Amino acid sequence: MTAKQTSLVRVDPERPDPSVVGRAADILRRGGLVAFPTETVYGLGANARDPDAVRKIFAAKERPTSDPLIVHVLDTEAARAVTAEWPETAQRLAAAFWPGPLTLVLPKHGDIPEIVTAGLDTVAVRVPSHPVARAILAAAGVPIAAPSANRFTELSPTRAEHVARALGGRVDLIVDAGPTPVGIESTVVDLRGPLPVVLRPGTISAPALAAVIGPLGAIAGGPSGDDTAPRRSPGMRERHYAPQAQVYLFDASTRDEAARLGRVRDAAGGTVGALLLSDIDSTVRHRIAMPDDPALYARALYAALHTLDERGCDLVLIELTPDTPAWTGIRDRLTRAARGGS
Ligand code: TXA
Ligand code: MG
Repeated sequence: MTAKQTSLVRVDPERPDPSVVGRAADILRRGGLVAFPTETVYGLGANARDPDAVRKIFAAKERPTSDPLIVHVLDTEAARAVTAEWPETAQRLAAAFWPGPLTLVLPKHGDIPEIVTAGLDTVAVRVPSHPVARAILAAAGVPIAAPSANRFTELSPTRAEHVARALGGRVDLIVDAGPTPVGIESTVVDLRGPLPVVLRPGTISAPALAAVIGPLGAIAGGPSGDDTAPRRSPGMRERHYAPQAQVYLFDASTRDEAARLGRVRDAAGGTVGALLLSDIDSTVRHRIAMPDDPALYARALYAALHTLDERGCDLVLIELTPDTPAWTGIRDRLTRAARGGS
């Protein structure tokens, strides 16, 4: 890939400069790539109706084209225009959670290029709430396909610096609006089957969804899954959301774990970091105290892992968070990080 001149432009997260928004929209309409903030993480956007533009996303991220993208639109009406069916469940979820960190998987409209959906007959669509994402969508006037703006399998970016480090020279423009408020990726819900299924947990919890649409189904092959349920999302590979360091999860509430943790740390030898909720292990040098509120923890998580990578940690010890619905999205990311470290 030939290196591009990437510009990084800072904007006010609430009131982005219209000239910067206009420039981003122009680049998108002309088939270029723009990294921009959403409320969850930074996205790497291209015009979803332009297959050549979307192909550039896969090249920049080194992401296999078997991994489908999320299409971002301004409102429910625009979401309906990229889908072929709009069930009652979609209408209710859209009314309850859009704009916001919820992605719906539905039968796709014939106009959406195959490259966006990895050849699937479904499309993932969401209406973001971040004012900068919304301003760019409004100005561009096209749906924007955007995965998280990181290289494939690496940590998602919650700050423009993370994007610049991963994708500098590969995108035309990075719009910097500071840290993203939610911090982990959207909840992805598949609405095709008889029961809605959470394909990727996020900050909108299963009970919050069920309160709006009733009972949820399980993923086929999952712990309580049945074989008639939808397949796991193609993008939900085990190795995902991983820092450079190896990650070891531990449960601070058991004494056995505390002893094991000491042994793991002593055996590691290299540079060790930790994300801690409690004050369990004061001898780790690169320790970061994490908030015990799930919304604040999600907001801080990726930046903390990026920081420990920058400090050259070989091993990161992460205290397991509670096992309640409000923490499910976070535990999912921690588990994947622990499986994925290279
Ligand atoms: O918060 C987010 O969702 C961020 C921001 C930028 O919007 N985007 C994001 O995109 O996380 P990405 O590409 O990193 O993750 C997209 C997820 C993957 O797990 C993918 O498998 C799933 O959505 N997905 C996309 N299209 C799908 C489809 N047609 N069927 C099932 N899953 C799909
Ligand atoms: Mg991603």
